[in-house]
Amino acid sequence: MSKLLVTSALPYANGPIHLGHLLEAIQTDVLVRFQKLAGRDAAYVCADDTHGTPIELRARQEGVSPEALIAKVGEGHRRDFKGFEIDFANYGSTNTEANRAVAVEIFEALTKGGHVERRAIDLTYCEKDRRFLPDRFVRGTCPRCGAADQYGDVCEVCKSTYAPTELKEPRCAICGTPPVRRASEHYFFKLRDFQPLLAGIASGTAFPEVDPQVRNFLRGWIDKGLEDWCVSRDGPYFGFRIPGEQDKYFYVWLDAPVGYISNTPDRDSYWRPDADAEIWHVIGKDIIYFHALFWPAMLQGAGYKLPRRILVHGMLNVRGEKMSKSRGRLRTAREYLEIPGLHPEHLRYYFAANLTPEPSDIDLNVEDFRHRVNAELVNNIANFCHRTLSLLRSRFEGRIATAAPGPVWTDALEAFRAAVPAYAAADLKSAVAAIVSACTAGNGFLQERKPWAADPAVAQGDLSLCANLAYAAAVLLSPVTPTMSAEVLRQVGRPGARLADLGLEGRELPGPWIREGRVVEGPPLMPRIEPKAAAALLPEEPAASPAAASPLPRSRGREGRGATPAEVAPHPGPPPQAGEGKAEIPFDAFAALDLRCGVVLAAEPVAGATKLLRLSVDLGEPAPREIASGIAEAFQPAALVGRHVVVVANLAPKTIRGIRSHGMLLAAGEGGKLALVELPAEVPAGTAVR
Ligand code: 2FM
Ligand code: ZN
Repeated sequence: MSKLLVTSALPYANGPIHLGHLLEAIQTDVLVRFQKLAGRDAAYVCADDTHGTPIELRARQEGVSPEALIAKVGEGHRRDFKGFEIDFANYGSTNTEANRAVAVEIFEALTKGGHVERRAIDLTYCEKDRRFLPDRFVRGTCPRCGAADQYGDVCEVCKSTYAPTELKEPRCAICGTPPVRRASEHYFFKLRDFQPLLAGIASGTAFPEVDPQVRNFLRGWIDKGLEDWCVSRDGPYFGFRIPGEQDKYFYVWLDAPVGYISNTPDRDSYWRPDADAEIWHVIGKDIIYFHALFWPAMLQGAGYKLPRRILVHGMLNVRGEKMSKSRGRLRTAREYLEIPGLHPEHLRYYFAANLTPEPSDIDLNVEDFRHRVNAELVNNIANFCHRTLSLLRSRFEGRIATAAPGPVWTDALEAFRAAVPAYAAADLKSAVAAIVSACTAGNGFLQERKPWAADPAVAQGDLSLCANLAYAAAVLLSPVTPTMSAEVLRQVGRPGARLADLGLEGRELPGPWIREGRVVEGPPLMPRIEPKAAAALLPEEPAASPAAASPLPRSRGREGRGATPAEVAPHPGPPPQAGEGKAEIPFDAFAALDLRCGVVLAAEPVAGATKLLRLSVDLGEPAPREIASGIAEAFQPAALVGRHVVVVANLAPKTIRGIRSHGMLLAAGEGGKLALVELPAEVPAGTAVR
């Protein structure tokens, strides 16, 4: 198999890494880790995108040199990515001599091939700042719809595009004075020279391969006509000076993708046209034009290898809304890492569980984030591994015995198997779902066989079978949760296991792979996400307006639905007042309750506790919850099975008489006269009660 280079878009060095960058870095990292797990020589390369006007201006504002700014920002980027376990073969920069040399070489090759033209154009110039103003540095009234305060390239109101010179009442965004027009000579890359290649990409007959939805975008652009692309900028500009020019520089978008090449270790072995290697780019849908049109044309024109695949993801929204100045800002990587109780693998899991090969937007809904991660990663996968391995340790000193695979083995292995082609197709959502489904089978088996109480010989065999399933789950989930998986593999004595060790590719179902040995002690695998931690992830509110400073509670949800549990402030409400009723609470406090329909699967008395019953309750999660409930005086255990009750699902777990009780049933009355709050049988387990 040829070796593989995978890149993600180079983050600008003018701000911190935020959750949007992490979506892409996590997607890329999972894809590369999977390829490595499958035995391929794969490398993930990325770098900071360091040039352009915003970086130059930001450095000026901070009173430092652009070099000092990008060095400081780059350090933060490296540290943040490390915090999320992103495993780069190299994380470099575009501001290097190597990048300059490759950019110049490509530009000269394109010029020599007749694909570059120099001609004069009219530009917007600020006489006060003595500089040409790039699109984003001119603001004014939209020439199409008349909306005020729009950028020089696109109107955010009517979405039309235009040249900065067309803006009405233009102003320099730096100093506010009206700019003038001034002519300047510039270099243009003739994209239309590459029409056959680009049409091939858009029709799916030429590499790079892109998703059909992306091909639609490309066709639309090509049909409108491929325009020349201006690849130079006038000084002052932070970038590479164009050879033979005094004060002209490469436009940042020329040398940025060149950074993919210059930051690849042993680069000729990937980028030479005859190299035995594949290149994939992972990008967001906002930069398709650059990657699927300009970049392949540049590479072909300069004699480099073309990428094989461009994987495009959607944007990260919060509750269906794009983050912006007026709607708040996505949390930064650093802020996430500093929230107590959030693990980087919570986010890795959540993103993976939502990523498909299509460029669909991903919604970060903090309640969904918490519920999903808790239900699938913590309560299902991690809990299955933890329960199995702790029971083996507590009952059998960790000894694994030979186990006969039964129906649970077939179910779980068929599910595990499905994860492999899903990963290969970049369908991380399906890969994760397959692993969840296998662990659900494993949990169901534990629930049915009760190895904590069963005959030792039978229990040891069952637990050994489950330890093998935990092993497979850890291997297969390792691209997503490398640390948690490594811990499970260490406990079962198989550190560094690879996909090939599972032998899932054959026609026959393999395993069990571990037939003897001893499971060692280890720490808990994955913490639950508490509501407070999830709520801290909500986007930072936009700068406070006078209304925001009002002591009245602000309306938070845009749909006017009021607050949701994750939005509740960490402060408790006022203390209850003396008397019969309790003190009034704000709506937020009520909304913080996660009330759900639970279906009682099993109920049994608790030895030595006359009031308690141990219940197993289905809350619509992959594994049922165990709940200790003080209702024994009013109900026979058997009479409870099958009832649809109301459960407070987000009550912090508590150990009661050795039972790890997680949730509480709602009931009215006392002692032997208790009545349960019940729901009709057609309400499914897990339905929210409001
Ligand atoms: O959109 C961005 O954030 C750019 N900095 C991406 C550059 S990707 C590559 F071409 F370098
Ligand atoms: Zn100005």
